[in-house]
Amino acid sequence: MSATHGARGAVRIADERLGGVPIGRIPAALRALEPAARACWAYDADAFEARARRFLAAFAPLEPRVAVALKANGLPALLERASRLGLAADAGSLGELALARATGFGADARVLNGNGRTPEEAAWVAAHGVFLVNADHAGELDLLERAAAEAQARTPQRVALRVNPRIDTPGHRYVATGGEGAKFGMAPDEALAAWRARARWPHLLVDGVHLHVGSQLLDPGPLARALDTAFELADAAARDGAPLGLLNLGGGFGVDYTGANAEFPIETHASALIARAGKRAADFDWVFEPGRWLFAPIGTLLAEVLWEKRRDGRRFVVLAAGMNDLLRPALYGATHRIEPLAPRAGTRTPATVVGPVCESADVFASDVDLPPLAAGDWVAIRDAGAYGASMSSNYNGRGRLAEVVASGGRLMRARATETPADLMARRRSDELTW
Ligand code: LLP
Repeated sequence: MSATHGARGAVRIADERLGGVPIGRIPAALRALEPAARACWAYDADAFEARARRFLAAFAPLEPRVAVALKANGLPALLERASRLGLAADAGSLGELALARATGFGADARVLNGNGRTPEEAAWVAAHGVFLVNADHAGELDLLERAAAEAQARTPQRVALRVNPRIDTPGHRYVATGGEGAKFGMAPDEALAAWRARARWPHLLVDGVHLHVGSQLLDPGPLARALDTAFELADAAARDGAPLGLLNLGGGFGVDYTGANAEFPIETHASALIARAGKRAADFDWVFEPGRWLFAPIGTLLAEVLWEKRRDGRRFVVLAAGMNDLLRPALYGATHRIEPLAPRAGTRTPATVVGPVCESADVFASDVDLPPLAAGDWVAIRDAGAYGASMSSNYNGRGRLAEVVASGGRLMRARATETPADLMARRRSDELTW
C-alpha cells in the first residue's frame, strides 16, 4: 500500500491503493449501486493473498494445515480466495462449518473448534467430514463417538484435545484464553487420562493436542511456551502408551494497530519454532489457526462524517459507522487509526470520534488529532479486517454494512448493505403449541 503526501505534509489516504484501486474512489463507486451507503468495509484481496503466502512460506518446513479462523472474517469472497490458496478453515459453529463448505474448503481442509459442542455439530461432522475436531473437554468425546457410530463412518474422526496450559498472555483479559481462569480447554491430567483411554472411542482417533493461548500477541514468548507444553504433553502421553500424532498450536499472532510496523514477527517466530521442534517435527501433523494476522491489516472501515459539533471546549466528530459495526473499541478499548481520506488544509486539533448509536460507549477514539473535517468527508478506520464485520450487529435497527473487495485494480461489491426490509425478513407469526 502506498500513500501520498498532500498539503502541509498530511497523508492523502484517498490516493492510497487497495488492491490497485485508490481508496478515495470507493465511496462513490459503492454509491453508484447503493445511493444511501454512508459507510462500508473495504478489503484488499491482493494484500490478503500476499499475507497468506507469507504465513504459508514461514511454516512451510512443517507442511502444516493453516486453518484461517472464520470468526475473524467470514466474507465468502475472501474465503474462496483462501481455499484456492490451499489454506484450511477453522470453523467454530454450524454456521461456519456450512460457510467453509460453501466457500471451497473440502473435508480435509476443515477444522471444528468451540467449547459448546452440540449434537447438530457432531452430526454435521459425521455427515460431511472435517479433518479435525478440537474437543474442549473429555465429555465431548462420547457425543462425537455416538454421532460417528450412527453415521457408520469408515475412517475414525481425528480429534485433538484442547488443553488449558495455564499460560498467561498480556493484553485485554477478554482475549486471553490460556490462563487458569479462562473457560477454554481441559486440565493436562484430564487430557492425559483421555489419551490413555482412547480405545473407548473406536470411531475416533484421539491423538492430538490443541493449545490456543490468546489473541493479539506481539511477543512470541507465550507461543514458544505453548510449543514446550505440547511436547511435554506428547512425551507424557507416549510414556502412557498413547503417542500423539498431531499438534495444533492455534492462532494469536498479533498485528500493529499503531502503524509503527511492529506486528508479530511471523518469520522469526516460525524459524525459532521449527528449530526448536528439530527432528521431532516429522513425528507430527501440524495445525495453525491464524485469524487476525491474515485479515486485520487488509481491511478498512470507511465512514462518512455526518456531523461535527463542539461542546464544552470539546470537538466531536460523528461518523455514519458505529459500535454495532466495529465493536472492538467499545468492547476491548481497542484503538484503530483514523484518518480522513482527503485531509483539508488547517491545524490538527484533538477530536472525539463517535458513532450514531445510543450508547455512551459508541466512541472510536478520544482526543485523536485530526485535521479540519466537514460533513460529507469520509474517514478510514484502519486495520479493521479482523473481528470487524464478523462481530457487527443490528443494534439500534442498523443494517450491517456493505463489504467491497479490491483486487488487481477491480472493485467488487461482495456483500450488499442490509436494508430496513432485511431486518423484517424473518418476521413470523407462527403459533406454537405449548
Ligand atoms: N483458534 C481459536 C481456538 C480461537 O479461539 C481463535 C480466536 C483463533 C484461533 C484465532 O485467533 P487470532 O489468530 O485471530 O488471534 N474478538 C477479539 C479476538 C477474539 C479471538 C477469539 N479466538 C478481538 O477483536 O480482538
